Amino acid sequence: MRPVLLLLLLLLLAVVVSAEPKVPAVYVFGDSTADVGNNNYLPGDDAKANFPHYGIDFPHQRPTGRFSNGYNGVDFMAIHMGFRRSPPPYLSIVNETHTPILRGLRGVNFASGGSGILDTTGSTITMTKQVQDFAALASNIVSHTNASRAKYLLSRSVFLISSGGNDVFAFFFATNSSPSAAETQQFYDAMVANYSIHLKALYDLGARKFALIDVPPIGCCPYSRSQHPLGACIDGLNGLAKGVNDRIKLLLANLSSKLDGMRYTIGSSYNVVLSMIADPAGVGYKDVKSACCGGGKLGAEAGCSPNTTYCGNRNQYLFWDRIHPTHATSARAGLAFYGGSLEFAAPINLKQLVEE
Ligand SMILES: *[C@@H]1O[C@H](CO)[C@@H](O)[C@H](O)[C@H]1NC(C)=O
Ligand SMILES: *[C@@H]1O[C@H](CO)[C@@H](O)[C@H](O)[C@H]1NC(C)=O
Ligand SMILES: *[C@@H]1O[C@H](CO)[C@@H](O)[C@H](O)[C@H]1NC(C)=O
Ligand SMILES: *[C@@H]1O[C@H](CO)[C@@H](O)[C@H](O)[C@H]1NC(C)=O
Ligand SMILES: *[C@@H]1O[C@H](CO)[C@@H](O)[C@H](O)[C@H]1NC(C)=O
Repeated sequence: MRPVLLLLLLLLLAVVVSAEPKVPAVYVFGDSTADVGNNNYLPGDDAKANFPHYGIDFPHQRPTGRFSNGYNGVDFMAIHMGFRRSPPPYLSIVNETHTPILRGLRGVNFASGGSGILDTTGSTITMTKQVQDFAALASNIVSHTNASRAKYLLSRSVFLISSGGNDVFAFFFATNSSPSAAETQQFYDAMVANYSIHLKALYDLGARKFALIDVPPIGCCPYSRSQHPLGACIDGLNGLAKGVNDRIKLLLANLSSKLDGMRYTIGSSYNVVLSMIADPAGVGYKDVKSACCGGGKLGAEAGCSPNTTYCGNRNQYLFWDRIHPTHATSARAGLAFYGGSLEFAAPINLKQLVEE
């Protein structure tokens, strides 16, 4: 490339990278689809990703605790909102006393792999605890600014929640993969009631702009497919995921009509992933069934670790490990949630939420 063109390109990149954030801060809650390293700080917990081959496509090939070969979906959404990537994990900044974060800027990521909407799901940092941690931060922000400034900043910041998949897995397997209609109804009711409690708690602490990511079709991840004799999707899991998503959609419509000033978008990872599986060639994928990193049937019998192999053409795989998407998939999902049509983000997309 000619030097002048290269220079222009670098300048352009510099402009894109140093774009002003479009919101004061992003606060992130949820599970391994959003975790950027909180679990690294937990002793003896299984749900970790701070070892190779995780992070192989992250800057400096660094495993950070993200369940991805590179960035996750939260990173890409943050990038679209003008940040470098996801805000840092809460446990990495919890003892800091001088940071823009304490003045209500940039934000924090509270997400913890293995957690769910229900406190009974998983053994890591529950959603209730994540919201409590945010409450502590919020009062810290008030003392580093003042009440009216904190209120102003929080009301313009984005509260991003990506959770629910682990609840579905836990419920499904607890019922031996064949929940009754009554059990399923009870599960939906608990999910809606608990999700509602978390959202109201955040609203009461000053949150106004909510960005939820729905439950992906977890019946189609390599782990689920590996349990099927023919490697097909487990329909029961997808049905539950869709059932939860439909009810959360109604809950949000209901809540936002009652809570003054509440705005929201729901990014549909369910529709994004299914659309990729329906048309792999459309996104340039060669493999939408198996894990790039792992071992055994569909790369899903062994979790991704230094002991397993990984694929070379990672941009052609939907899944990185037996549960989680690749950097490439997360990039497409992040774009769809940010600027996509109603199929992928409703009732408005993240860009509209940010600009309101
Ligand atoms: C924060 O401080 C507490 C109390 O001193 C300590 O136990 C904890 O390990 C510290 N956390 C980090 C991430 O440094
Ligand atoms: C929240 O979910 C738990 C199950 O984890 C359930 O026992 C509880 O009743 C739910 N809370 C509400 C308010 O429904
Ligand atoms: C709160 O802080 C803002 C900006 O830091 C300042 O402009 C405002 O006067 C302060 N309000 C009060 C009541 O102290
Ligand atoms: C909205 O929520 C209220 C309680 O908060 C409930 O009584 C009502 O049935 C809900 N409506 C819908 C459409 O979900
Ligand atoms: C990798 O293999 C070694 C030796 O067999 C074993 O001790 C270790 O637990 C394995 N690590 C993982 C993450 O499976």
